[in-house]
Amino acid sequence: MALRPIICLPDPRLRLVSKPVAKVDAGVRALMDDMLETMYDAPGIGLAAIQIAEPLRVVVIDAAKKDDPPEPMFFINPEITWSSEETSVHEEGCLSIPDYYEDIERPAKVRVRFLDRDGKAREIDTEGLLATCIQHEIDHLNGVLFIDHLSRLKRERAIKKFAKAAKRAVDERSGEGETP
Ligand code: NI
Repeated sequence: MALRPIICLPDPRLRLVSKPVAKVDAGVRALMDDMLETMYDAPGIGLAAIQIAEPLRVVVIDAAKKDDPPEPMFFINPEITWSSEETSVHEEGCLSIPDYYEDIERPAKVRVRFLDRDGKAREIDTEGLLATCIQHEIDHLNGVLFIDHLSRLKRERAIKKFAKAAKRAVDERSGEGETP
């Protein structure tokens, strides 16, 4: 297992549509192990492969409560097959959009079809935090970020803020941040 760097807004790779996994093999399992280690280290409760610059439809999640034992979950080629009309609002954040949180409204319950770690087809019903998290992660596989669910004004403000921070980091690295 290895820690992998997480890419952040405004990295254009976050807008890629990830490709389906053709075969669940040792390479995919090694990728998921890296993703899980990287997610726990961050720390976060969900991570899509594209967040470590791998454009594959792979997601890891651990939505266990803080003091409960870890409950790692692996989703390969996940698809939402049903969503409830009922919605719920959760405050969301994203490891690729650090220190930024907003309330997002999504379907309260979703049914998800996917391949598990052993390549077996499964379908589960989710609600609560897990439902929010899996929808957030599947969005990543389609190049969608949680800020895309905000009003245009709020979204543009967030994008501008991260673009500025990225520019500042580049300037500082090249020594141009010293301008009085
Ligand atoms: Ni995210």
